[in-house]
Amino acid sequence: MPKRTEPYLRYASIRPDREVDYVAYPFSIPAVREIESIEFHPNVTFFVGENGSGKSTVMEGIAVALGFSPEGGTKNVRFQSAGSISPLHDYLRLARGVSKPRDAYFLRAESFFNVASYMDETAYLKGYGGQSLHTQSHGESFMAVLLNKLQGNGIYLFDEPEAALSPIRQLAALSAIHHLVEDRSQFVIATHSPILLSYPNSRIILFDKAGVSEVAFEDTEHFAVTRDFLNNYPRRLEQLFQEDTDD
Ligand SMILES: Nc1ncnc2c1ncn2[C@@H]1O[C@H](COP(=O)(O)OP(=O)(O)OP(=O)(O)O)[C@@H](O)[C@H]1O
Ligand SMILES: [Mg+2]
Repeated sequence: MPKRTEPYLRYASIRPDREVDYVAYPFSIPAVREIESIEFHPNVTFFVGENGSGKSTVMEGIAVALGFSPEGGTKNVRFQSAGSISPLHDYLRLARGVSKPRDAYFLRAESFFNVASYMDETAYLKGYGGQSLHTQSHGESFMAVLLNKLQGNGIYLFDEPEAALSPIRQLAALSAIHHLVEDRSQFVIATHSPILLSYPNSRIILFDKAGVSEVAFEDTEHFAVTRDFLNNYPRRLEQLFQEDTDD
């Protein structure tokens, strides 16, 4: 099967009938204000940016507008625990492609534990390799989702999937993502991982104080800072600790 050339999800816009308060969360976040400028890549769209730049807010808004529970899982997962959910989804209108995805999954590292508990309670383990996600490590259970659960022809939203994964498993995850892309899937992935960001069939969207913009892999801070640090770490550590004592 070839890769998708036409995305399931094209872009999100703010419903014209809704009044927006730009001072309050979530529209106080520059990237949320510019959400209409995000044009989703038919294969993989990455969200990058500093902590607090709005990646999870935008991801959750889109996920809930697509019909997922804010906690994540398949669209059949129906529960919500204590965490607060942003009202962004109520303001969004999604522009979708002509064909519909046959599979869907929203994975958030933050609430994966709760989704795993729900899966146990509902005995909904088929497709997860049959084993409770709680008797597997965090990384193992994430890989079980990626390798056993996702069927292809799907739309998949991942928020910081690398949180659970060793570098070797991040490479394995890249390979699994590539197979799913070849099987006509579309991904949106918020990540800080330079390994995941290297994926070529993709668009990297940088969230910052100015809003959103597209950036090339080698121009990301993730690539530059990681490469510089690994190539020069004894010197960089010296400088870092020197600066600390200078303070
Ligand atoms: N329910 C909420 N009410 C008010 N502010 C919130 C709420 N949830 C998040 N925020 C704020 O919105 C901003 C964006 O948060 P968000 O979680 O989207 O960032 P992020 O880019 O995903 O960061 P990270 O890389 O750390 O995951 C943060 O400053 C956060 O404190
Ligand atoms: Mg986040």
